[in-house]
Amino acid sequence: MTPIDQLWRLDGRVTVVTGAARGFGAAIARRLVEAGAAVTVADIRPDDARLTAERITAETGMVCDAHAVDVSDEDSVSALFAAVESSKGPVDLLINNAGVFSNYYVSDMPHAEFARIMDINVTGTFLCSREAARSMRPRGAGVIVNVASVDAHAPSAEGLVHYTTSKHAIAGLTRSLAMELAPDGIRVNAVCPGAAMTEGAIELVSSGSDHGIDLEAQWDGIVQRTPLGRLCRPDDIGRAVVYLASDMAEFVTGVLLPIDGGILVQPLEGYVSSGVSG
Ligand SMILES: NC(=O)c1ccc[n+]([C@@H]2O[C@H](COP(=O)([O-])OP(=O)(O)OC[C@H]3O[C@@H](n4cnc5c(N)ncnc54)[C@H](O)[C@@H]3O)[C@@H](O)[C@H]2O)c1
Repeated sequence: MTPIDQLWRLDGRVTVVTGAARGFGAAIARRLVEAGAAVTVADIRPDDARLTAERITAETGMVCDAHAVDVSDEDSVSALFAAVESSKGPVDLLINNAGVFSNYYVSDMPHAEFARIMDINVTGTFLCSREAARSMRPRGAGVIVNVASVDAHAPSAEGLVHYTTSKHAIAGLTRSLAMELAPDGIRVNAVCPGAAMTEGAIELVSSGSDHGIDLEAQWDGIVQRTPLGRLCRPDDIGRAVVYLASDMAEFVTGVLLPIDGGILVQPLEGYVSSGVSG
């Protein structure tokens, strides 16, 4: 039997984390490096990605590098994987974390904004997964972890029609990739975080909503409805990704794992208290 302190190790595994310059991605990269993975911090903001990689190296004493990528651009994704493979070898582990969000009532939502969210969140996950599958299949092993959301399970708030649709699509990608790639020894899973005050979320809330949506009230309501009584923290996601990436999860594929303090356990609470049923 493999000792438990070896099961979660990722020593030398060539790893790409997208959107890792900040937020969840940076926390995921930090924990994966600590577990021994050879991580590339990939982000559309190359300077921030480099600073994050340098910080992780300083904190852990382990090598972590950075590379620019726009996950919604096919050539950019190909260039990222080519660069990683030529410097470190085939990719063992991909974390599809890059994602964007905004708030609009559907009647105000520009077509271009719906398309932008789908391009980055969904097409980006597809393009990176395709490159990873090409890298992993010849060796009959690999792991992909998608960062979805509680919105992959159910709509969490008004103003997120585009975002919730994109995260449901990532649920579909996760399950269908898990089925198609299982014969090649590749596992595909998703983490589904609850709301967290990442840099991106802070920008969204502090900029307010131009579209009639009270974002601060939404976020206060989330804490009140969360059984464990707080928002998600980036390190909650880093820890869960290490589990799914490691041999601790050797028999796990196709799951959408909520990391949400229990908020999905009580989806009918709002409905029951509305008076409609009484
Ligand atoms: N913050 C939350 O409440 C929350 C909850 C559930 C799920 N998520 C998901 O977690 C993921 C990370 O979100 P976050 O809150 O850390 O956001 P964030 O804005 O703090 O970080 C996102 C990172 O992605 C990068 N990025 C954006 N577009 C990109 C592109 N086209 N190519 C490459 N990189 C790109 C950004 O530069 C940034 O560094 C997203 O997929 C998001 O949907 C967030």
